[in-house]
Amino acid sequence: MTILVTGGAGFIGTNFVREWLRHSTERVVNYDKLTYAGNAENLDDLVSDERYRFVRGDICDFDAFAGVLAQEKPRAVLNFAAESHVDRSIHGPEDFVQTNVVGVSRLLQASLHYWRSLPDGADRDAFRFLQVSTDEVYGSLTPDAPLFREDSRYEPNSPYAATKAASDHLVRAWGVTFGLPVLTTNCSNNYGPYQFPEKLIPLVIGNALAGRDLPVYGDGMQVRDWLFVSDHCAALRAVLESGRVGDTYNIGGLNEITNIAVVNAICTILDELSPAASGKPYANQIRHVTDRPGHDRRYAIDATKIRTALNWRPAETFSTGLRKTVQWYLANTAWLDRVRSGAYRDWLARHYDA
Ligand code: NAD
Ligand code: DAU
Repeated sequence: MTILVTGGAGFIGTNFVREWLRHSTERVVNYDKLTYAGNAENLDDLVSDERYRFVRGDICDFDAFAGVLAQEKPRAVLNFAAESHVDRSIHGPEDFVQTNVVGVSRLLQASLHYWRSLPDGADRDAFRFLQVSTDEVYGSLTPDAPLFREDSRYEPNSPYAATKAASDHLVRAWGVTFGLPVLTTNCSNNYGPYQFPEKLIPLVIGNALAGRDLPVYGDGMQVRDWLFVSDHCAALRAVLESGRVGDTYNIGGLNEITNIAVVNAICTILDELSPAASGKPYANQIRHVTDRPGHDRRYAIDATKIRTALNWRPAETFSTGLRKTVQWYLANTAWLDRVRSGAYRDWLARHYDA
């Protein structure tokens, strides 16, 4: 059997593919456009694994995606592909609309054609389309507000969140109207290995080691609910195997923490594991900078449903997960350097003359 993931060369997709091959005997096909956020080097060591196949492709390209479905006959499609960075969505929302809205509608339509082409019986019954989405669709919580539940109102605030909300609605509509067996997950902030260093945690680690400023937006008192990426991957496997068709599942770490506390925690771990040559604490590099427009103040997930229905729990606390994350970046400074210098794009030139 085969599963088809889109966006598998990005941060969460890379972790998911690697863990899938460890936990399952099934094949995984990775369909990815390789935007700036896609790093095919992450999975280069898997090329000799017969259970892994990479296909470069855009989710907006209906024919190309339909062709891969017809050829690979997957039992499931998991959509990780997206434009994912809130700051970029503020500076240039168009790519977000294209990939996160138009692209998802094409994926759904191609998946519907494929699913309808399956003969009646076990393969058709077992097929799933899983949309990997975000807690940002629910908007921002006030300090005392109850946590986001699956029935919380959609109130997206950034262009990124609005396009993810739109794609969630498309997924729901393809399920209700056409009967496509869909599942949706809404997860909080992930961190861990292979995260592109535009996002807070790898950006701070990289900047600290390079002796640069550590930019904290506004007062730094915004709250995120951090989840180690492997815990997200385990939750996705659980939803794929046992989730109820048509349902959504919130996934979170029960790790509400302010941004300034996250940055200070990274500095403390680095002070211990890789002290600055200057002998000064890394926290001296923290600078408060202009806030993100429309910055959501607080996200926090109520994960009761996935815990009780699917018996999923995060294995990592923020402190164990953050330590592992800092250790990974310290052990993989070459990875960080290649991303920051742009050298990771050489893979494309070697494989696609692009
Ligand atoms: P990422 O930006 O690291 O990776 C996105 C991947 O999608 C890249 O490999 C990129 O090349 C690919 N891609 C982009 N546009 C494409 C297109 N048109 N066709 C095919 N591939 C395309 O993102 P991530 O952080 O790994 O997030 C993965 C998914 O999880 C996204 O849908 C995101 O909204 C969601 N999510 C992320 C987080 C988080 O904290 N990172 C939390 C909750 C949900
Ligand atoms: O909540 C899930 C979402 O988490 C995902 O859907 C998104 O794809 C993912 O990018 C992430 O969004 P955030 O905007 O929360 O992540 P980011 O790492 O960009 O920022 C985390 C917090 O840190 C946020 O409050 C903004 C702040 N920040 C970020 C950067 C890059 C800073 O203070 N300074 C920075 O330099």
